[in-house]
Amino acid sequence: MLIIVLLLLTGYVDFLHASVDCEAVALSDCLPSEFFPVPFPETEAEVDFVCLKLKVYVDCIRNYLEECGNEDASFEEQLKARYEKIDEVLNDVCEKESKLHIDFIGNIKCLKSSILSHNDSCYYKTEAVLKIYKQRFPEQTEHINKNGIYWDEYFCLFEAYDISCLAADAANRCGLQAKNIILEIVKRLNYLEYSCSEEARVELMNLIETLNFEVQDKIQLKEIFNIFN
Ligand SMILES: *[C@@H]1O[C@H](CO)[C@@H](O)[C@H](O)[C@H]1NC(C)=O
Repeated sequence: MLIIVLLLLTGYVDFLHASVDCEAVALSDCLPSEFFPVPFPETEAEVDFVCLKLKVYVDCIRNYLEECGNEDASFEEQLKARYEKIDEVLNDVCEKESKLHIDFIGNIKCLKSSILSHNDSCYYKTEAVLKIYKQRFPEQTEHINKNGIYWDEYFCLFEAYDISCLAADAANRCGLQAKNIILEIVKRLNYLEYSCSEEARVELMNLIETLNFEVQDKIQLKEIFNIFN
C-alpha cells in the first residue's frame, strides 16, 4: 500500500506541473492535510479505511485532469493513463474477492516491515550498484548529470535496482508471495516505464553481465527488467 501511496505522491508531483491553475485547487481539494502521510494499514479494517481515502483522492485527481486542460496534450494523456492504471490496481488491492487483496492481507504485517525498512535495507546497496555503474566511465560523473547522455540509464538503474532490492527484501523476510505482490503492482502500474526509456533498459540489460555487480544483484536486476516483457 505504501508503494501505491508513494506512486500517488509521485504522480501528484507530476500533476502539479500539468497546470499552474490546477495546482492551488488540487492542493486544497484532493490532498487533505490530515490524511497524508497515510499510516501503513495492518488490518483488514485499516486497509478498508485507507482504500476509501485513496479512492477519493485518485478520483479527485482524475476529475481535475479531465477539467484542467493543458497545452501539452501528450503529457496530459500520459498522466491520465497513469491514473487510470493506479485506479485499476487500487480497486484490485481493495476488492475483497480479488487474489491481490487476499494475498496482500495475508502478508500485510511483513510487507509493512519490509516497506518501512526499505531505506535502511536498500540505501547502501543501491549506492554500491550505482558506484559500480559509474566506474565504467573514465571521467566518472561528467556524463552522469541531468543533461548528460547517460543520465537516463543511470536513473533507470537507480529506480530498477531500488525496486528489485525491496522485492528481494520482501522475499527474504516474508516469502515469495510478498515479493510477487510487489512485482505485480510494479508491473501493472507500468511503474518502471516512467523511469526507464526503452533504450536505457535495453542498454542496461546488455551491461548487467559485464559490470561487476554481485551475482544476486544481477539476478534481481534481470528479473525486474523482465517485467517489461
Ligand atoms: C536513508 O538512509 C541513509 C543512510 O542511513 C540516510 O542517510 C538517509 O537520510 C535515509 N533517507 C531517508 C529518506 O530516510
